[in-house]
Amino acid sequence: MAKDKLKGLILSGGKGERLRPFTYSGAKQLVPIANKPVLFYAIEDLVGCGITDIGIVVGDTRAHVEEAVDDGNRFGARVTYIQQEAPLGIAHAVKIAADFLAGHPFVLYLGDNLVLGGVAPFVERFRSDSSNCQILLRRVDTPQSFGVAELVDGRVARVVEKPRQPPSDLAVIGVYIFDQHVFEAVQQLRPSARGELEITDTIQYLIDKGLSVQAQELDRYWMDTGKMGDILEANAVVLDALPARREGSIDSASRVRGKVILEHGVQVTNSVLEGPLIIGEESRIVDSQIGPRTSIYHHCQVEGSRIANSVVMEHTLIERVSYRIEDSLIGRYVELRGEGGAEERRCVLTLGDHSQITAA
Ligand code: DAU
Repeated sequence: MAKDKLKGLILSGGKGERLRPFTYSGAKQLVPIANKPVLFYAIEDLVGCGITDIGIVVGDTRAHVEEAVDDGNRFGARVTYIQQEAPLGIAHAVKIAADFLAGHPFVLYLGDNLVLGGVAPFVERFRSDSSNCQILLRRVDTPQSFGVAELVDGRVARVVEKPRQPPSDLAVIGVYIFDQHVFEAVQQLRPSARGELEITDTIQYLIDKGLSVQAQELDRYWMDTGKMGDILEANAVVLDALPARREGSIDSASRVRGKVILEHGVQVTNSVLEGPLIIGEESRIVDSQIGPRTSIYHHCQVEGSRIANSVVMEHTLIERVSYRIEDSLIGRYVELRGEGGAEERRCVLTLGDHSQITAA
């Protein structure tokens, strides 16, 4: 099968235990980073690589993912949904996508991975070389949390999943490219000790068969957004990379410092905005201080409050909170009502969708 006929496979199932409480009511891949669900970055990256035939593996949160992505038309893609009955592993997701992939080479993209600037150069390289698989590596401080590669003379000799004693600090990031040999590998796999068909075992199978597994070190920012702190970090990094944009309105009593993005229909009144920050469509900011490193998604209202280094999801109301809200992840349709005033103390909040807090 020609290497220029690449398909895409994005994984948007799984449990998302490390992102509770948000994953009780939604998909972790839909958590917004700089006001865009993390899954959309993967779709846009694939489309940017010329890959428009995309399968999305979904689990319990299928309805949310389908509602957000639909048929993929607005991304310039054609999306096929593939139901995974249970999160039995990344390689299991590949196995059940075999009919969709129909022997095509494909890019496997974990739906919670974000690569700033995308993976186009790596896809191009796979298209033009004779490798059977390509993986991307990134040096990390905590390799025991990832798949880890061991290189011998620049070649991948071994790949292990979350090893207690990592053989290197090279994490295998969640974007992989395979040709048709992967289908034999996933058929042969047995579940690991944690009961999953592991993508690292799949890659190891290819290595053991003498197939060509190429590794490249990624030279750009990458984040697995599966944990709270990672989301705030990724949000700050992506905000920093975006150009300023002002589609909303801001009154003369307000002050702006740094790079600020105001989306369509935003109204800012008597407030201080310190970039980098983004405020989403139809949100209203009144008598407040927002930023830096803060994203407020669409249809929110913030009044008489101070928020920094935080992500606030859509349709949320924050009113007269006296503590400074910092390093917080606040879900959808949250109502947070304080008694007004401005204390020096700060609060760090993790509030799931529909939470309600009222000072009494
Ligand atoms: O982020 C890179 C790491 O991703 C790699 O270094 C590891 O080798 C790889 O196993 C994976 O580790 P994670 O622990 O981060 O995988 P997680 O369970 O979070 O799943 C990754 C994505 O795939 C996530 O969006 C959920 C989805 N998924 C996962 C499983 C296990 C599915 O759709 N179905 C599944 O069965």
